[in-house]
Amino acid sequence: MIDGFGRTIDYLRISVTDKCNLRCKYCIPEGGIELIPHEELLSLEELYRVVRIMEKLGIKKVRFTGGEPLVRKNLIKLIEDVGRLPGIEELAMTTNGVLFAEQVEELKKAGLTSVNISLDTLDRERFLAITGTDAGRQVLDAIQKAVNSGIKVKINCVPCRELNEEDIVDLAALSMENDVDVRYIELMPLGCGKYFHGIPTDEILQKLEMQYGKATPSAMQCGSGPARYYEFENFMGRIGFISPMSHKFCSECNRVRLTAEGRLKLCLHYDTGIELKPLLRGGYSDEEIQAAILEAVNRKPKAHEFAQETADSTVENADSRRMVQIGG
Ligand code: GTP
Ligand code: 5AD
Ligand code: SF4
Repeated sequence: MIDGFGRTIDYLRISVTDKCNLRCKYCIPEGGIELIPHEELLSLEELYRVVRIMEKLGIKKVRFTGGEPLVRKNLIKLIEDVGRLPGIEELAMTTNGVLFAEQVEELKKAGLTSVNISLDTLDRERFLAITGTDAGRQVLDAIQKAVNSGIKVKINCVPCRELNEEDIVDLAALSMENDVDVRYIELMPLGCGKYFHGIPTDEILQKLEMQYGKATPSAMQCGSGPARYYEFENFMGRIGFISPMSHKFCSECNRVRLTAEGRLKLCLHYDTGIELKPLLRGGYSDEEIQAAILEAVNRKPKAHEFAQETADSTVENADSRRMVQIGG
């Protein structure tokens, strides 16, 4: 698919649930959030039908996100089915890792090719303070088991002044000792993210260079993602930066999102998109749904406007949903 700005859209992120088994402070408010009633969620069959239609339109990479994707029952079956579609070349997942180790064999068998595991600190106490759960060990176990199984692993860390500033440099050591990429993501002002202070990429790179020596931009940039990668001497893996705030990457955007209740979302920042559930449940044909998707993709926004978004003001049409409901 080509959008209205000539960008090729070949990457679909599917949020399979809005539930999460952690409570990261920058993502979920203290009182929790109201969950989508079960009947409003797309069934696995409906999710599959959307992917099947979109594969015909040129989707090559599918990422399963949440909430936490692994809390959705029978997800493995969906991954397997999607993996069998001939056009799908990459099957990925973004997870907090807590339930990953126990399912790693099944996930590998189902065809998962890569996993991005969120981890903001290696310190047990601070993991508990940030996420509300003492599960840091399980996440480290997940990383190890995923590496051993041959699934490509990236670690996602969101540096935040209030939560993990002192852990950022240590976290990079994971990619010194293992063939995993550690990526630092600039906090975006979505949901609770508005009430914390992210740390800009350039500052982190400087801190890492002080500890680990000069970083060289990696010759091998991953084609489809917003991350920019660097290499440090004697590191097995690479260090990546996702910098939506300091280095906007929207002109190369290649993705759309499907939310758990069936909205095809055109940009992380905006609410604009199309509700697919009424079409899926209203007897529409694959061709009609295909036409609706193409019309929507043509309206994909040019870029996010996070810089204008603050705790007291909101950009017009900005999505009021939280990251846990969008899936990142
Ligand atoms: P790869 O395909 O492995 O590079 O992964 P990814 O970066 O596309 O996915 P992941 O789910 O690991 O996302 C990591 C972070 O990047 C999350 O905080 C996302 O919100 C952010 N991110 C992913 N896609 C976009 C995007 O299109 N726009 C913006 N602004 N942020 C994004
Ligand atoms: N800004 C940037 N990244 C965020 N994540 C959650 N909330 C935010 C935010 N406001 C990250 C999670 C996870 C990924 C899916 O998104 O830490 O790694
Ligand atoms: Fe694409 Fe929107 Fe993300 Fe920009 S913010 S890269 S346009 S999804």
